[in-house]
Amino acid sequence: MRRKLVVGNWKMHGSRIANAQLLAGLKEAGPWNADVAVCVPFPYIAETALALTGTSIVYGAQDCSAHEQGAYTGEVSSAMLSDIGCRYVIVGHSERRAYHAESDQLVADKAKAALAHGVTPIVCVGETRAEREAGQTEAVVKRQLAAVIHTLGHCCGEMVVAYEPVWAIGTGLTATPAQAQAVHAVLRAQLHAATDRSGVMRILYGGSVKADNAAELFAQADIDGGLIGGAALKAGDFSAICRAAAQ
Ligand code: 13P
Repeated sequence: MRRKLVVGNWKMHGSRIANAQLLAGLKEAGPWNADVAVCVPFPYIAETALALTGTSIVYGAQDCSAHEQGAYTGEVSSAMLSDIGCRYVIVGHSERRAYHAESDQLVADKAKAALAHGVTPIVCVGETRAEREAGQTEAVVKRQLAAVIHTLGHCCGEMVVAYEPVWAIGTGLTATPAQAQAVHAVLRAQLHAATDRSGVMRILYGGSVKADNAAELFAQADIDGGLIGGAALKAGDFSAICRAAAQ
């Protein structure tokens, strides 16, 4: 039995005051019988770490550089994330693939850099609406995951995978539990062929997960938790999703 993991992706939201309220609300609502993390904007990581001291909620970032260190203005290395206690880093989110032209290989290199410093990469894959309508869902997610598996080699068993259909992100359109499960099963099979850890690896679903649809999604055989956007910004909503994961 895999322990569920619920990760809040705050994206580019928040302020010191709003974050303090949100984290205080989560502290009060937890703990849950599930692993819970928040991936926050870089400037707020240190303060988030302080606010979460003494709780079981861990924290992470939303991106990292593929480079070790050096003249890369504006970039943040995985060594730095590790240095300030990040447990997770999201890599390959569809918003980064779309707005920053991140390639499958760059995403894989970022995942490798994270693992090299003991930060668990949460590797996002997912098809656009046009790709789904063209019947390419499986091919797209397999291509995205293959690049990471190839680059990480035997270490690929250490990552977390997140299936986030692009058409379901922030749209209120959720993949049905059956649609999501079908893709998760494809991803699990692909991992199975690559690592003997496939049975313990967590594959999260993301895309308009809310308190009222989380339990049904999390009940699917290969859905091991969620990557939560909008609903991670309200303590009540996020903690309800964490509760659903704990059942
Ligand atoms: P929403 O939950 O807002 O659809 O966002 C999902 C997501 O992109 C999480 O990474």
